[in-house]
Amino acid sequence: MLSRQTLRSVSAARHFSSSASRQTKVAVLGAGGGIGQPTSLLLKQNKLVTSLSLYDIRGAPGVAADVSHVDTASEVKGYAADQLDQALDGAEVIVIPAGVPRKPGMTRDDLFNTNASIVRDLATAIGRVAPKAHILVISNPVNSTVPIVASVLENLKVFDPRRLFGVTTLDVVRASRFLAGIAGTDPADTPVTVVGGHSGVTIVPLLSQSAVGKAVNGEAWEKLVYRIQYGGDEVVKAKDGAGSATLSMAYAAAKFTNQLLRALGGEKGVVAPTFVKSPLFETQGVDFFSTNVELGVNGVEKIHPLGPLSAEEEKLIEACLPELKKNIAKGQSFVSSS
Ligand SMILES: NC(=O)c1ccc[n+]([C@@H]2O[C@H](COP(=O)([O-])OP(=O)(O)OC[C@H]3O[C@@H](n4cnc5c(N)ncnc54)[C@H](O)[C@@H]3O)[C@@H](O)[C@H]2O)c1
Repeated sequence: MLSRQTLRSVSAARHFSSSASRQTKVAVLGAGGGIGQPTSLLLKQNKLVTSLSLYDIRGAPGVAADVSHVDTASEVKGYAADQLDQALDGAEVIVIPAGVPRKPGMTRDDLFNTNASIVRDLATAIGRVAPKAHILVISNPVNSTVPIVASVLENLKVFDPRRLFGVTTLDVVRASRFLAGIAGTDPADTPVTVVGGHSGVTIVPLLSQSAVGKAVNGEAWEKLVYRIQYGGDEVVKAKDGAGSATLSMAYAAAKFTNQLLRALGGEKGVVAPTFVKSPLFETQGVDFFSTNVELGVNGVEKIHPLGPLSAEEEKLIEACLPELKKNIAKGQSFVSSS
């Protein structure tokens, strides 16, 4: 049995730790889905998350009951279809994997018709209930859904470009894993910066900027770039109609969320590629672009330039920009016409 003295010090330590640490409520919208479920599980394991709010039009209370039994300190609550406002209330970070995934033969743009309105409606609720939240968009096509969220928040007069992120981390994770596979290195020591957008030719890996990547040339380079740009198709094909990447995507979502939470908590020097409102190609009509971004207590702290490019990478950027411009404009005009 614990002595009174011990109990007193345990309770004092508890009081100290809860008052000293930040309270961070993270909401997952689409928590019942293929990405949402493992993302919720991984976020439950993150000590920087103190409260987890799980929302979906179906199944979120069940996922929440399940995840809530994991023995970490955070509180988990699930919300049914008609409880979106409650789910968003007080959320500091909102992760959005809601929407339909691809089937074999589909491009991410083929998802536009369904996912555009899902994301628009979720963004409208966020603008009303949690206008200061950091929003992490996973729902495809990211090149269009991020501009949709921005336009909705702009119309509501609450848009802050420092707090909106398209999650492109899976491209970064794949680039590092695929390059390490060729070079025989540990992916942890084989980082690759991936810029542009999140689909096909808009995904531009800057292999020349990494010591390991620089050594890959000619046909091997072409094959590697293609694999990074179209790696998602490998999963769609292998799942044979059952969806797209969910587990590696959840890993990537949890990784980027953790980077953002560390920066929001005051850690300096957290840098990650992410698709944000960016001045880099604004003069060419490309308002959103992914490059390395330094994250800080307010979200986007500093957008890094592309850095030195090889001649081949310059060509990749040239191919990326017109497609990206089209995708962004499609998202923006969806909101202005709806
Ligand atoms: N950014 C990336 O790198 C990346 C990678 C893979 C997949 N994705 C995208 O993520 C999205 C989700 O993929 P998935 O495999 O989890 O799909 P899924 O169908 O398994 O899950 C989607 C979930 O969203 C829910 N949902 C639908 N409408 C909703 C709404 N209005 N509010 C809340 N929830 C809603 C569904 O009920 C479902 O549970 C797809 O658009 C997919 O293309 C993005």
